[in-house]
Amino acid sequence: MIPAIEIRDLTAGYRTGQPVLKNINLTVMRNDFIAIIGPNGGGKTTLLKVILGLIKPWSGEITVEGYPIESKAVRGEIGYVPQLIPGKSFPITVMDVVLMGRLGKSDFFRHFTDADMSAAEKYLLIMGILHLSNNNMDSLSGGQKQRVLIARALAGEPDILLLDEPVASVDHETQESFFNLLAELNDSITIVLVTHDVGAVSAHVKNIACINRTLISHGEILSADAVSKVYGCPFELISHGVPHRVIGHKHRKGSSTENNSDGENSL
Ligand SMILES: Nc1ncnc2c1ncn2[C@@H]1O[C@H](COP(=O)(O)OP(=O)(O)O)[C@@H](O)[C@H]1O
Ligand SMILES: [Mg+2]
Repeated sequence: MIPAIEIRDLTAGYRTGQPVLKNINLTVMRNDFIAIIGPNGGGKTTLLKVILGLIKPWSGEITVEGYPIESKAVRGEIGYVPQLIPGKSFPITVMDVVLMGRLGKSDFFRHFTDADMSAAEKYLLIMGILHLSNNNMDSLSGGQKQRVLIARALAGEPDILLLDEPVASVDHETQESFFNLLAELNDSITIVLVTHDVGAVSAHVKNIACINRTLISHGEILSADAVSKVYGCPFELISHGVPHRVIGHKHRKGSSTENNSDGENSL
């Protein structure tokens, strides 16, 4: 079976300095619901940007549904839900935001069609916020904004949904209904969720990877203690009942004594 996302020996970073991500290997199978956790500054957002093609890898290879990320075939396969930045203003209506999710569906400089409108309405309904269509984004709560951004991503009808810190700005109750919703979407869509907040990882998640700059922890299932010592992944995950796969360097698979040379282990 062709994986939804396959990352091989990825090294990536910004213009200057050290690479942010080094020797990353990660396979996300279709219909997976994977949480990628790690400390702030660990490179989670950078990894999403690389998968989206916004940052070119320094080395390594990434395929989406079997195609290299530069390929046209990948366009529109991925829906992206960016991190909500508190205080950032969106002076447009909910409907306008969701319609933006349709822009990738065809050529630029065109008017939205009836099909675009009904797709936008369909996903607003699924997200339970159709009644807010004409509201200004700025008037919504954090949880409602998050739903709008997900509706926008879904309006592009992607096969894969990438979410960056999606529950950072919502309360516990909203988190739960949010994860129930993601679990429903997961019936037909592959979901990759990144978060620094271990408490935000729900039992709906099927797999977990830990990332801390030069290392994604990985591979076989390790004991909670080994995971927390070696990779800086938190012990509490185990009590969430989440299968804990730790993803690492392909050629070093089986080693559980790797040190994180970065020393940035705190979550
Ligand atoms: N645009 C950028 N230019 C240079 N360095 C950046 C940029 N964005 C992020 N970084 C650096 O990359 C590292 C990883 O950041 P990021 O991927 O945002 O981590 P996370 O999402 O896990 O908090 C940090 O050290 C950060 O300072
Ligand atoms: Mg981030």
